Amino acid sequence: MAGVSTVEESVRTASLAVLARNWRGSFTRAAPRLYPHQWSWDSACVALALAHYRQADAEAELLSLFAGQWRNGLLPHIRFFDEDAPYFPGPELWESRRSGDAPARPATSGIVQPPVHATAVLHQIEYAPDRERALRLARALYPKLVAWHRYLHVERVRPGSPLVELWHPWESGMDNSPLWDDALARLDTPEARPSYRRVDTTIADPRERPTDAEYDRYVDLVARQRDVAYDPASVREITPFAVRDVLFNSLLARADGDLASIARWLGEDPAQPERWAGELRAAIDSEMWSHEHHVYLDLDVITGRPIEVCTASGLAPLFARACAPDRVAELASAVERFCVGARGGPPVLASLSPGDASFDPRRYWRGPVWPMLNWVVASGFRESGRVEIAASLSDGLVRLVHEHGAFEQFNPLDGHGQGCAEVSWTAALALDSCTSHVT
Ligand code: SER
Repeated sequence: MAGVSTVEESVRTASLAVLARNWRGSFTRAAPRLYPHQWSWDSACVALALAHYRQADAEAELLSLFAGQWRNGLLPHIRFFDEDAPYFPGPELWESRRSGDAPARPATSGIVQPPVHATAVLHQIEYAPDRERALRLARALYPKLVAWHRYLHVERVRPGSPLVELWHPWESGMDNSPLWDDALARLDTPEARPSYRRVDTTIADPRERPTDAEYDRYVDLVARQRDVAYDPASVREITPFAVRDVLFNSLLARADGDLASIARWLGEDPAQPERWAGELRAAIDSEMWSHEHHVYLDLDVITGRPIEVCTASGLAPLFARACAPDRVAELASAVERFCVGARGGPPVLASLSPGDASFDPRRYWRGPVWPMLNWVVASGFRESGRVEIAASLSDGLVRLVHEHGAFEQFNPLDGHGQGCAEVSWTAALALDSCTSHVT
């Protein structure tokens, strides 16, 4: 077997090549055919990884994404381009301009994705070669980041908790996770649903994508939000799907803390982002921890109850620095419930425990290994002082990409690549895992 440094060198070279092939002059396409536009959290991960290697392009990537930001601060999960590759759900489903807050151009979706953006901007300041240039970017983006976080902290909460809520499974980034099964099952038969045709199942193996029944509900939920012009107060009122997700809230708490660091670099007052970060960390730890399952659990806002499904995303609060030392120890013991070592290789986290009744090694977020989840949990353990677990998860991810390529997801039983190849954020996160973070 090749030594670690050789593997890392080869993954670094291959990942940079994937990112270069997906580069479109001002942004990085999320994947060549399956995801031909700019996705919010994919893009933030790409910018983060490129800071060390292609600073000007990392900067362009973030500016391109924020060109799609709405006036109320919402940062849409897709910024569309005039690519000729077909995609569903495209601009014609979203009709984003029904909202007075959406920009006239570019066309965007009307929902969000996890907020990794302040984390990516802080990374430019800390690690990009030209710090003055990174600070100029941070200065330009700072008000936009504050507006984005304010949208989440103000429009996505209800009285009684600072935890933010999601109104669509696509907002979690974990589209068909069993986390959403009960909430989606509650949706009425979607008669008012617009007719639509999927494109994803003509590109990727349908067994590695969400089902048609799930897509019916996804489209139904978009139609309901579109019908109220994406007005947050109205959506909060009418949505049958409202969840507080551990991964999303953890990434936000981390990004709030990173936003406070950016404020300090810029000589701005960090008090507001610090307050957001503190309140959110405390709420994650007090409202989401499960004494029974020894991981953090999502909450269903409509029923007011925890969602009793344990996924590897239940370890994400480590990345938010939200866990007391005894919780870190419990999460360290929980790792093995989600760990798979494809073909005896180093362990990686499956998105769902192989022992779970809903486990499916092929179907998108119901079992496959996702680089982002591994990267978040590995980074969380590293920063909590559990460096052996972190190194082992990180090594597992790098070796998967080395052996199989920059696939979207990996089969947790034998490691083979699934979904589609040449995926930008897989390349980005593998690249970051092989990059030494020393300024
Ligand atoms: N994740 C959805 C898709 O697969 C939408 O962002 O297209």
